[in-house]
Amino acid sequence: MDFSSFRIGFDPSDTKRVHAYWDEIFASQKWAEGKFTQQFEERWEAWNGTPGVAMSSWAGAAMACLEYFHIRGRKVLCPTNTFMATPLSVVKAGGEVIFGDCNREDLCLSYDAVVSAAAQHDLAAVWLVHIGGHIAFDTLKIAEFCRAKGIVLLEDCAHAHGASWNGRKPGTFGDAGAYSFYATKSVSTGEGGMLVSQRPDLIAFAKKYRNYGKFEHEVDGLNYRMSEFTAALGLVQAERLETITAWKNEIAEKHLNPKHPKRLRMPDGMVSGLYKYIVFEPIEKSTGKVYDKLCHAIMKRPGTFPHAEWISQHHWCVPLYYNPEGGR
Ligand SMILES: Cc1ncc(COP(=O)(O)O)c(C=O)c1O
Repeated sequence: MDFSSFRIGFDPSDTKRVHAYWDEIFASQKWAEGKFTQQFEERWEAWNGTPGVAMSSWAGAAMACLEYFHIRGRKVLCPTNTFMATPLSVVKAGGEVIFGDCNREDLCLSYDAVVSAAAQHDLAAVWLVHIGGHIAFDTLKIAEFCRAKGIVLLEDCAHAHGASWNGRKPGTFGDAGAYSFYATKSVSTGEGGMLVSQRPDLIAFAKKYRNYGKFEHEVDGLNYRMSEFTAALGLVQAERLETITAWKNEIAEKHLNPKHPKRLRMPDGMVSGLYKYIVFEPIEKSTGKVYDKLCHAIMKRPGTFPHAEWISQHHWCVPLYYNPEGGR
């Protein structure tokens, strides 16, 4: 039984299907903008409960959202405990990053940080990052607050594949969500991303944005398209998503929870995709921290963020990788 050695979240028994799809793509002479991109999006929507637009990476989805909501010259709140992708997307879209603190319990942006930032700044948007594979515990309160104040709420779902809260999926609480299918994620296509939103106008915008604004050229996008080969792999992976989530949760319950009483605890009704299995005590064999350097420090920005600083010192990740050939 091996779940501790790094493995990409992929079932080798799916290889045959991926190869069959790839043969079909070779024969079709259509390597981009074809039926697999559409099928991947439809399958993702079936899981996520909201329409999706496949992108070449998380960054494409993020840029489409930020440009759609016109954040240029405006302020966007980001947690300092995140990957640099989140604040950099704001910088690249011409916005100003305001950093916020998080909760110790879930590692994610706190409601208090949102309220406090909104009292001090005219916020155009909030990036809420679902760190580690669960949904940020303050999501409902933050979503309600943003709705009431007219602040756009964007969910960074890069880690959140497979997560749900009383059946509701990441990216459905705010105005839009952005997933990453980078090689280490719970569900991967090597590279790739997915924008999800319940706003048909944003979905239509994103489809043009990823394709240089074709065909009317009213949207100034660049190339964020996903190739058909990647989309075919994505389709197979999307169909495997629930199996991967259930497998990881079963292993966690059976083998990890009894050993780690000081683990991150989920609220009622929450299922984590377990991108990371997080504990609040040092352990012998750890994969390290989700992030050990906070973004405000990397970007040399002032401010004190006591909870994020505490987290960067006091959490560790227990290895947990999907390995269907390793038994249970
Ligand atoms: C929280 C977070 N946001 C965004 C990204 C960026 O995703 P991508 O590499 O697909 O652009 C990552 C990691 O890759 C991430 O961990």
